[in-house]
Amino acid sequence: MTTHATARKPPPEPEVGTPIICVRGLTNSFGQQVVHQDLDLDVRHGEILGVVGGSGTGKSVLMRSIIGLQQPDTGDIRVFGEQTRDRGESETKDVRRRWGVLFQNGALFSTLTVAENVQVPIREYYPAIDQQLLDEIASYKIVATGLPAESSSKYPSELSGGMRKRAGLARALALDPELLFLDEPTAGLDPIGAAAFDNLIRALKDLLGLTVFLITHDLDTLYAICDRVAVLADKKVVAVGTIPELLALDHPWIQEYFNGPRGRAAEDSAEREAARKPAPETGDNRGKTD
Ligand SMILES: Nc1ncnc2c1ncn2[C@@H]1O[C@H](COP(=O)(O)OP(=O)(O)OP(=O)(O)O)[C@@H](O)[C@H]1O
Ligand SMILES: [Mg+2]
Repeated sequence: MTTHATARKPPPEPEVGTPIICVRGLTNSFGQQVVHQDLDLDVRHGEILGVVGGSGTGKSVLMRSIIGLQQPDTGDIRVFGEQTRDRGESETKDVRRRWGVLFQNGALFSTLTVAENVQVPIREYYPAIDQQLLDEIASYKIVATGLPAESSSKYPSELSGGMRKRAGLARALALDPELLFLDEPTAGLDPIGAAAFDNLIRALKDLLGLTVFLITHDLDTLYAICDRVAVLADKKVVAVGTIPELLALDHPWIQEYFNGPRGRAAEDSAEREAARKPAPETGDNRGKTD
């Protein structure tokens, strides 16, 4: 849904498949520790791009660099064609409005209710918005993420881990973003809760035409909802492609990750799930639907 508090000319819609995030030559370091070196990555409009890599390889730092929370040493980062590097909050306000972020630790304000958390970004962009409209938008977002309406008045400490993830997602969706950044959204959820969250992301993506940058360790998530997967290793993105394309590569981490016991179990489970469901109507090389 959209709010009508200000008349804003919508930016032109990029065509499906055109890169809307372009990272070139990115280098990040902390003291002596070089996390990224000459990293390149494109994220295409309309895709769910899974981002994988061992713990500490710099997935969260990459996301923070793209959204301007981490100032890289060198590199060029463009989102929707706009440079996000070395620019102040006010300079990037228009482009920031076009994305929503679910951080790895949830990052909800503990002293605010779920509804108030969802309202924070809306207030930032529409300070004069009427409280009743704000409440309506927040309830719509909260229910859209599968939370019961009564969770609106709860504080984060009164929610389960899975509910907190959904509340974080509701806040990320507050401004009707075109692009969603999700950092480990299913970490800590039981397998049924994780699968439900995956389905929710895929459904929201299909419904709202979102592009999703999705950091995950969850192999089931990769098989279930990602269109392509980017692999972070050796301080760069060593490969980007569909899972079958990645499996054809001779990289030791990729082979171990996807062809190890957990990778094979996830593949088997994805195949069983695909066989259980009718064939998708849209052309989709993952061979499965939600
Ligand atoms: N603000 C910081 N100051 C110093 N070092 C940092 C900072 N942020 C991240 N690092 C370091 O950068 C490296 C990459 O961190 P990052 O959080 O991106 O890893 P990750 O791939 O997201 O790992 P995980 O899968 O465990 O979440 C780590 O070694 C981390 O200690
Ligand atoms: Mg991380």
